[in-house]
Amino acid sequence: MDSKQTAQYGGITSGGHSSLDYNSYLMVEQLKTLQVCQSEPAHHDEPLFIIIHQTYELWFKLIIHELDLVVELMAEGRVRKATHFMRRAVAIMRVLVQQIHILETMSPVDFLGFRHKLNPASGFQSSQFREIEFMAGLKEERMLMHFKSDSVAFAELTKRFEAPSLKDCFYALLRRNGFTLTMPADGEDDEEGKLAEARVLELCRLYQDEQLGELHDLAETLIDIDELIALWRTHHVTVVERIIGFKRGTGGSEGVAYLRSTLVKRCFQDLWSVRTALT
Ligand code: HEM
Repeated sequence: MDSKQTAQYGGITSGGHSSLDYNSYLMVEQLKTLQVCQSEPAHHDEPLFIIIHQTYELWFKLIIHELDLVVELMAEGRVRKATHFMRRAVAIMRVLVQQIHILETMSPVDFLGFRHKLNPASGFQSSQFREIEFMAGLKEERMLMHFKSDSVAFAELTKRFEAPSLKDCFYALLRRNGFTLTMPADGEDDEEGKLAEARVLELCRLYQDEQLGELHDLAETLIDIDELIALWRTHHVTVVERIIGFKRGTGGSEGVAYLRSTLVKRCFQDLWSVRTALT
């Protein structure tokens, strides 16, 4: 491939080739060199394991790219455009929920044929998965701290941790449209849930007032992505149980028991609570 120039824009590179064709544009030759098995001789199923994770990471990259734009569009008050790009992120996430099932074609015995070579690598260390969680508003400092030894990932995740999340930007947009949505002040917590209750009652208006149709549609895309992340967790833990049972994870966790504990996580809890509050 003849590469003329490249430039980086937030992790997305732009450049040119002097003689463009399908393979050079998509760098297919380079792409095909990126599947390096740890097993020796290479186990037949290890390329499946590598490629499925690599495709997840590629789609994660695109989801992050789309969510970055959604945040900008929300800040500019461009609700329909924000909804349009949220729908793309949702469509990708829908594929990611289904994709995990390809792994069911790998038998537990075949996985054991190379699993020991993967230690201590684990999906738990996927920094892009944590980036998506942080961007959506699911920020846990202990998750950030797991990346301390990887300076590049740590810097990127710290930036995401400190930046306003999709939830923050959505609430700011609603406030500019007449909502109050009071959050606890810094250092304060809403122990009795009074502030959350007040926010939920206000958010009910999105579902009751037809004048708020565009904001309602945007809110529904947030619920869509949250539901799909929750579904991904459910499908992933089920496939994990099918393949390794209750063995410990290569990342050092209890495995299925840890993954089950994550199933209750929600990025947009207030929007879920609206369902209960609506009368
Ligand atoms: C044979 C297939 C798989 C097995 C046995 C497996 C197993 C596990 C286990 C046991 C954990 C808990 C952490 C640990 O101790 O390692 C975990 C976490 C995780 N895995 Fe997988 N996994 C598989 C496939 C995948 C795939 C294809 C992805 C796609 C990216 C993925 C992404 C993740 C993520 C993001 C976490 C962290 C979840 C959280 O902390 O909420 N895994 N996996």
